[in-house]
Amino acid sequence: MEGEFTGKEVYRQHFDPKEFLKLHVPFGSGSLAVRERGYAFILEKLHKAFLLDGIQGETLIDIGSGPSIHQLLSACESFQEIIATDFLEQNREEMQKWLKKDPEAFDWTLMVKYVCQLEGDREKWMEKEEKLRKTIKQVLKCDVTQTNPLDPLVLQPVSCVLSTYCLESACEDLPTYRSALKNVGSLVQAGGHLIFVVALRGTYYMVGQHKFSCIYLEPKMVEEAVKEAGFGIVCFETLDMNFTQDLADVQGVGFLVAQKHNEA
Ligand SMILES: C[S@@+](CC[C@H](N)C(=O)[O-])C[C@H]1O[C@@H](n2cnc3c(N)ncnc32)[C@H](O)[C@@H]1O
Repeated sequence: MEGEFTGKEVYRQHFDPKEFLKLHVPFGSGSLAVRERGYAFILEKLHKAFLLDGIQGETLIDIGSGPSIHQLLSACESFQEIIATDFLEQNREEMQKWLKKDPEAFDWTLMVKYVCQLEGDREKWMEKEEKLRKTIKQVLKCDVTQTNPLDPLVLQPVSCVLSTYCLESACEDLPTYRSALKNVGSLVQAGGHLIFVVALRGTYYMVGQHKFSCIYLEPKMVEEAVKEAGFGIVCFETLDMNFTQDLADVQGVGFLVAQKHNEA
């Protein structure tokens, strides 16, 4: 891997939620441009999974939400309750700002409108924002390197766990990634779903001036780790991407849906 592993202390000190959002997330009220097609890909796949393929249930846990809410815009139509989580206090605070309509909160309008358009009515974006705010019931601390990522809380396994671009950033190497996947997978009940958005074939991403490591993953490595954690792959679609050096060296994004085997 190029550069050093950026562990928890580096995240605590240098991961600035506002810088992350400014650099990586398209915002405003225009339309999603070509360079943002990675986001369009993710939002379309999540729309399909939750609204067309019918993945639904009582509770969804989003692992490593960061300061972001876009990944939950379709899920709030299919789950009664969403639990957002992140390792960093500053990210949890940034999300709370959006939930409380703080004037300094990030402007997610563009993403919200895009998802509303997928659902058939771009004009319903304010209702959608309200619905998501009501559905996110908790914002909890999590650490994917712990056997129970939500420790000290112990929750009943839930019907769906979602995670976007988290484990590959949180883990130092492939063995740690595989074990983190088992930790996160343990939060899913038998027959429930795991949905992952994965950065493929990359070694870093930028947040402001700071470079954060991620582990180099080929789709096959992700599939093997998911199977080893007790899941069957339902679908795994990939999109080739090329970022500029000031953003990341990631070469693709993977969208994976897996289902936990029923215990014998
Ligand atoms: C690239 S960001 C992705 C954020 C968000 N999911 C998104 O798609 O915009 C990676 C996230 O992983 C979180 N993270 C880093 N180490 C972690 C750990 N050990 N456990 C849980 N989350 C962690 C960071 O705080 C950060 O929010």
